[in-house]
Amino acid sequence: MQRTRVIHALNAKTAMDPILVKGWVRTRRDAKGFSFVEINDGSCLKNIQVIIDESADQSGSLSGIHTGAAVAVAGALVASPGKGQKWEIHATRLTLLGGADPSTYPLQKKRHSDEFLRTIAHLRPRTNKYGALYRIRSESALAIHRFFRERGFVHVHTPIITGSDCEGAGELFRVTTLPGEAAGPAGQACSAETDFFGRPAGLAVSGQLEAELAACALGDVYTFGPTFRAENSNTPRHAAEFWMIEPEMAFADLNDDMDLAESLIKSITADLMDTCQDDLDLFARYVDKSLMATLDTIVNPPYARLPYADAVDLLSRSGRPFEFPVAYGMDLQTEHERYLCEEKFKKPVIVFDYPKEIKPFYMRVNNDDRTVAAMDLLVPRIGELIGGSQREERYEVLISRMRDHGMNTDEYWWYTDIRRFGSVPHAGFGLGFERFLMMITGVTNIRDVIPFPRTPRHLAF
Ligand code: 4AD
Ligand code: MG
Repeated sequence: MQRTRVIHALNAKTAMDPILVKGWVRTRRDAKGFSFVEINDGSCLKNIQVIIDESADQSGSLSGIHTGAAVAVAGALVASPGKGQKWEIHATRLTLLGGADPSTYPLQKKRHSDEFLRTIAHLRPRTNKYGALYRIRSESALAIHRFFRERGFVHVHTPIITGSDCEGAGELFRVTTLPGEAAGPAGQACSAETDFFGRPAGLAVSGQLEAELAACALGDVYTFGPTFRAENSNTPRHAAEFWMIEPEMAFADLNDDMDLAESLIKSITADLMDTCQDDLDLFARYVDKSLMATLDTIVNPPYARLPYADAVDLLSRSGRPFEFPVAYGMDLQTEHERYLCEEKFKKPVIVFDYPKEIKPFYMRVNNDDRTVAAMDLLVPRIGELIGGSQREERYEVLISRMRDHGMNTDEYWWYTDIRRFGSVPHAGFGLGFERFLMMITGVTNIRDVIPFPRTPRHLAF
């Protein structure tokens, strides 16, 4: 007999006899002659209640039924007289598939702290909160793919092992097959000629450079892949391994880029509010009481848009004692970004035209020669959710910008070459997937929205 997922049993239109469900025991409660067991199989937030008549337990499995145990239950799905559920199962056969010792199973009925649950990341998806998170994460990825597919974007796969540093921040993890000493100190190309690739290699900090090449052939493309940054910042918003979505559009300028960013965030948020109602409701109840109000502002464009110079102006006139003092030419810090979204505009904000000194080489230089056609989309609580730009499509300007950044232009011949043959204005951005998940769930630490977080000095699991 095929097993029925709990979600289907709970949503059944009619009684089902027989039915077989399999899952993990969440709780067990005993009454005279009966046991009530709540089973969850991960298909949805809710459990199904199973009623086991002790006399029906011929196999003697009932004695092994504790929180955490895996079980198979055969019986009948019948209307439940109890409150809070439409259906329940009256078991006729119970099989203990895998026991769980109640004296050592770490998940108890009480609420556990996020910090504790990080130490048992192999078991945390068995809690309501993390089960919901995994499902929302999966639905979010699907919503993103759907968004781009509906608009004719081609999904491209860019390399993970790379010889280039897109963001130019030197935050590359080195990839080597050389033994410790031969590889030399991280970041230095000691014996690179004898290394696997014959030159220094690293893990990709972005797929953008390759995505640009694809856009200049296919028009509209996007990547969705793992991204690695060795920045040693132990913040609640940075992970050493995270996932990034990078659309890139040919024949597009900064305005098109901002429009795409805004409609992407609006559209996938609205999608999830629809497809993940039950799971999101858990976060709105127990994690962030103002979650739904925040999400309402996210799905209600237009977002505020203002040039960097105006943002700096607003911040300096705010009278706020920021930890990082505000001055033209500085990079906006999270506290500044949050002030703009949470207090000034009370909705997402796009800041554009940043000073060229604080942005990477590939961003298009504006006519004022001081700023570049960059944009960041900032959202309440998170700050920067998206970073993007129009790209420098003029060969000579790009070469000179790369020299200014101290880059070896020969190594990037393939990137500059695309500017020699049918170069067109193009633009794109990167959306941090985990930052998006933090926004949609109200979870405040990036370690809690990725199944197995990688952060400085943390490589468990
Ligand atoms: O602003 P970033 O560095 O932009 C780029 O990498 C461009 N190449 C993107 C492009 O134009 N195609 O990163 C983009 C986004 C950030 O806005 C942030 O949401 C996320 O990626 N991000 C991180 N998320 C988690 N942990 C980190 N260490 C992150 N660094 C960036
Ligand atoms: Mg950025």
